Amino acid sequence: MALFTYHFIDLSKAEKHVRRQTLDKYALYAQLSALLPVLVILIFWLVKRALKSEASRRKYTAVPSSPVQKQRQRSSAGTWGSRFRRAQWWLGEDVVVANVVLGQRDQWLIGLLWTAWLLLLCVLETGQDYLHLTKRLGIIAVSQWPLQYLLALKSLNPVAYLLRSSHEQVNRWHRVMARVTTTLLCLHAALYLNFFVQTDRLHRLGDPVVLSGVMAFGGLLLLVSTALRPVRRYSYRLFFFIHVVAGIIVPLQLVIHAAPAKTFLFEALGVFFLDLISRKLDTVTGYATVGSIPGTNLVTISTIVPRSKIDRYRARPGSHIYLSIPAAARKSMNAAFVSHLLFEFLFNPFTVAAVDEENGGLTLVARHYGGPMTAALRRLAGASKPGNSNRSTDENKIPLSIEGPYGAASRLSWLCTSFDRILLVAGGVGATFTLPLYRAILSENPAAKVEMVWAIRSAGDATWALTGKEAQALMKDDKISIFTTGEFSDPEGTGLLRQRAAAGRHDDDLDGEVELSAMYRDGRRGRPTSQHNRKRPDLQKVVDNLFKHGQDERIAVLVCGPNDMAKELRAHLGVWVNKGRSVWYHNEGFGF
Ligand SMILES: Cc1cc2nc3c(=O)[nH]c(=O)nc-3n(C[C@H](O)[C@H](O)[C@H](O)COP(=O)(O)OP(=O)(O)OC[C@H]3O[C@@H](n4cnc5c(N)ncnc54)[C@H](O)[C@@H]3O)c2cc1C
Ligand SMILES: NC(=O)c1ccc[n+]([C@@H]2O[C@H](COP(=O)([O-])OP(=O)(O)OC[C@H]3O[C@@H](n4cnc5c(N)ncnc54)[C@H](OP(=O)(O)O)[C@@H]3O)[C@@H](O)[C@H]2O)c1
Repeated sequence: MALFTYHFIDLSKAEKHVRRQTLDKYALYAQLSALLPVLVILIFWLVKRALKSEASRRKYTAVPSSPVQKQRQRSSAGTWGSRFRRAQWWLGEDVVVANVVLGQRDQWLIGLLWTAWLLLLCVLETGQDYLHLTKRLGIIAVSQWPLQYLLALKSLNPVAYLLRSSHEQVNRWHRVMARVTTTLLCLHAALYLNFFVQTDRLHRLGDPVVLSGVMAFGGLLLLVSTALRPVRRYSYRLFFFIHVVAGIIVPLQLVIHAAPAKTFLFEALGVFFLDLISRKLDTVTGYATVGSIPGTNLVTISTIVPRSKIDRYRARPGSHIYLSIPAAARKSMNAAFVSHLLFEFLFNPFTVAAVDEENGGLTLVARHYGGPMTAALRRLAGASKPGNSNRSTDENKIPLSIEGPYGAASRLSWLCTSFDRILLVAGGVGATFTLPLYRAILSENPAAKVEMVWAIRSAGDATWALTGKEAQALMKDDKISIFTTGEFSDPEGTGLLRQRAAAGRHDDDLDGEVELSAMYRDGRRGRPTSQHNRKRPDLQKVVDNLFKHGQDERIAVLVCGPNDMAKELRAHLGVWVNKGRSVWYHNEGFGF
């Protein structure tokens, strides 16, 4: 049977040996070529750094050129810069099919280009040998696995380090790689099945070598299908469990199926286990106080981490950790055996809302969304004595394990020095990301042009931010605009807010009511808003105001909130990017 020009060809032993060598050669090319983009990025980064330092040196030594020449240089560089920014922005847009977001344009573009490159490597020097093509598809796919695994690592992720990015942002490329390699493996399986059918060899499916391949392919399909968004949303645990288990078993099955590919498979497993060890070493278990905020479904977790770690948290405002509940804490929950087992697979991310450098304390704020971890946290909060959320009595303390810190927001000094104006937008519990950033930016540079817009459903949602001496400063700060959007139905929350604000007050002649009214102030106009005026922030107006200060200002916008909020904000920013303005945008998503 022929597929295009390919045929089933009987080869001699020597010819099979040559085919094996060619297969290995192209697999190595494919693996090495995957390192090329990383190398290009590294060179780009080094050149950019060198140009930057050269530019700052020239600033002081160069004889100023004529204004006409300067203007000409500026306008041509400016045009290219603006074109580049527009292209970058365009690539960041969502690809939407039938109302479903299927990633972003850059992922599709790079994914398609990479598929085309790998397909080329799959056909070169295969002649008309059908089985050569079939085998090539398999080994080329597997040659990508070490990088594919590397892109998913949390702790030892060299790509995240090189790109000065976070493992979450790099993970989007892991997903692209996974789709590309799965496509090649599907073609490999389909061509082999066709070969067995056409040559009456279906009985070979029972041979150990073939069977292990069939089982590995089944495992891979399970892994890929449980990683689809609807399944992840339905049960993150199912996705996580199958990803970890199949991620280990499938490569081991493939070692039996395709021995020549074992180097790639052991490399993939090697980086996976090294990362796991590093993560375990970076996990600390400490006693935490868990409390709930009345009138909300928020839980606060206060814990102490060792002194040696606190500096890392302090240096990375807006970072997050992975929280797990160790066996010792589960005892008090009287959970069934299955639940105990489930908790072995629960490592949920939460942003560090506050760091207390003096006592090494971390504060987390978790919204209960109905899943097992947040439900357990709520139960643990319920088990503490009422009203004790902030008191540190030993009877209320529960051992909790914390791994981290992680996150992209580690480059604060870069944020302060590279931008003229910074806007932080938060929705609900998303302020756990933006508020620490806001505070850190101002403590680094009190004159920084930074503002924060925070939409919350009810006053109670902000109480966690209003503890201690910082409460007063936050309430008075006209660079922070808080908008309450829900019905006025949480007197408990506002009551607590009033207590917290009063507790953090130094100024004795202000009473709690005055503090509370600040919550309803439309920070933009500085006027208190009435209950009827409570509404969402007008993001278009916020964005337009941001750009009115100066044509040359470099703007940074960071958002952490509901998807719709981030989408709307991005759309408004896009208008200005298309006008040629320089904007760096970061969306800290709380789910993926
Ligand atoms: C970087 C980051 C920071 C976050 N910070 C906060 C915060 O400060 N406060 C807050 O209330 N919520 C935060 N979240 C969301 C929080 O992680 C989820 O609400 C929480 O894990 C849900 O737990 P659950 O038991 O209710 O449900 P689960 O069924 O355990 O999880 C529900 C959803 O949470 C997310 N999630 C769970 N585990 C993981 C994981 N290991 N890696 C990535 N995503 C996961 C997934 O989107 C999943 O679909 C953050 C999420 C991320 C990704
Ligand atoms: N994946 C997860 O499990 C998970 C867990 C925790 C949090 N999160 C995410 O974290 C974010 C915050 O969660 P939350 O539950 O704390 O939020 P929330 O209570 O729903 O509050 C969000 C606030 O933002 C406002 N808002 C929404 N869209 C907006 C828009 N387009 N423009 C202006 N304001 C807008 C809302 O106004 P309205 O009241 O008018 O809607 C509300 O005041 C959300 O993205 C949530 O999905 C995800």
